[in-house]
Amino acid sequence: MTTLSGHSFGIDIGGSGIKGAEVDLATGEFVGERLKIATPQPSTPHEVAKVVAQIVQEKQWDGPVGITLPSVVRNQEVETAANISKDWIGVNATELFADYLDADFAVLNDADAAGLAEVAYGEDIAKQGSVIFLTLGTGIGSAFFLDGQLFPNTELGHLTVGDDEAEKIASSAVKDREELKYKQWTKRLNKVLAEYEKLFNPQAFLIGGGISRKFEKWGPHLDIETPVMPAQLRNRAGIVGAAMAAVDGLKP
Ligand code: BGC
Repeated sequence: MTTLSGHSFGIDIGGSGIKGAEVDLATGEFVGERLKIATPQPSTPHEVAKVVAQIVQEKQWDGPVGITLPSVVRNQEVETAANISKDWIGVNATELFADYLDADFAVLNDADAAGLAEVAYGEDIAKQGSVIFLTLGTGIGSAFFLDGQLFPNTELGHLTVGDDEAEKIASSAVKDREELKYKQWTKRLNKVLAEYEKLFNPQAFLIGGGISRKFEKWGPHLDIETPVMPAQLRNRAGIVGAAMAAVDGLKP
């Protein structure tokens, strides 16, 4: 893995907010404050791209920009859209953002970006062997790593487990919506992780998203063979991973 240095800029596009910050790639820390602007509703490509440009301009950033979407992004074409306007499906990200940004940019899936950041700046165990990174939020995002190398665009949140999609069973949004206690929700997460374990047999699961901060409340209730670890970067991960992709020229 290459050691990154210098500064870059990452923007994380989500269903409710679009967040951007300059990132020091030597440390994986933000330089200055993160800027968050509410996602326009409806969150159509041009409206969202305008906000991306606004964030770059307000932060007076002049350089490469990495952008995440809650979408499969293959060959820089947006193929799915979860929690953002369906108008994104079929959009060529290179053409869209070229109208709004003067610098080089790279567009990638939000969970892939967050996973890349965890591998680079989190615990060493994330860099070794086969690791599945999951981000639990509105949905479930996933990123597969082998010795720190990303296999992009896995969509484990949409795997059917029992009668439903994994993210409809055990995202943290479901926990909030159904007012589940940690123990009840962990039972559901366990069912989902057990299915992933059965199919992919990774050496470790790494769990990110806001709920990873409360790992001590739910981690002990898990009951699977594979080690499960909380991610380290918290809500910084998406932006940092986007910033990394921008300088790496990573364009899945
Ligand atoms: C989307 C993924 C995304 C995840 C987290 C899922 O619903 O399909 O592309 O990574 O949510 O935002």
